[in-house]
Amino acid sequence: MGASESRDPGRVRGMFDRIAGRYDLLNHLLSLNRDRAWRRAAAEEATAGPDGPVLDLCGGTGDQSLALVRRSPSALVVCCDFSHRMLDRATRKFEGAGQAGRCLVVEGDGLRLPFADATFAAVTVAFGVRNLADMDRGFREMRRVLVDGGRLVVLEFSRPTGPLFGRLYRAYLGRVLPRIGDGVSGASGPYRYLARTIADFPDAETLAGRLRESGFAACGWRLLTGGVVAVHTAIR
Ligand SMILES: C[S@@+](CC[C@H](N)C(=O)[O-])C[C@H]1O[C@@H](n2cnc3c(N)ncnc32)[C@H](O)[C@@H]1O
Repeated sequence: MGASESRDPGRVRGMFDRIAGRYDLLNHLLSLNRDRAWRRAAAEEATAGPDGPVLDLCGGTGDQSLALVRRSPSALVVCCDFSHRMLDRATRKFEGAGQAGRCLVVEGDGLRLPFADATFAAVTVAFGVRNLADMDRGFREMRRVLVDGGRLVVLEFSRPTGPLFGRLYRAYLGRVLPRIGDGVSGASGPYRYLARTIADFPDAETLAGRLRESGFAACGWRLLTGGVVAVHTAIR
């Protein structure tokens, strides 16, 4: 399956609908629970700018939205995703956490956001931009819905910096992650797609360049866990 074919929106939506039930468990397992600290770091960056509502785009099962409201108790977060099943999990999670009043769920496409210009003080995208059929168009949509001075925070996989750690990580991505993913999710294929999109994803410097080309300013990043992920920040 070629990269553009594999990012076909219908295919991507169907894939996340299929793995929604085991998605959280696999996130914690495959990241050795580091995902919680990564989300806290992204929430910290997102709440460092102007006050106002936050869009958690490609919000999935809602963990980044919860990290945002926990970080900033007065924040109102809109968790937007195009997978109905992922959002079902998010809705139940927000209710269970007593946060349904502050975490709103909206089914929508990141390439055609159902929000007016300048609606949000911040936009977060955790492990989402990798899956967009047209990432640059997604960035332009994120910019459109941000207020002037609003912050974009992109949490994504990146490239480990140490040579030995890099080799081990690539072996983990190629051989271990797809097997555990397939075994635990019970779906053959999705975790191979996820491993491939992680391995193919541009490094932090290239991604920052794409954000600049999409009209963002002050594009920077911080590597976490030896470069396994990067928290990118940019200003509209
Ligand atoms: C790897 S999951 C990340 C979920 C969540 N942000 C997290 O950190 O766990 C990627 C999510 O992006 C969503 N997604 C992919 N393309 C999208 C699009 N064009 N519009 C809205 N959501 C999209 C998928 O449905 C999926 O829930």
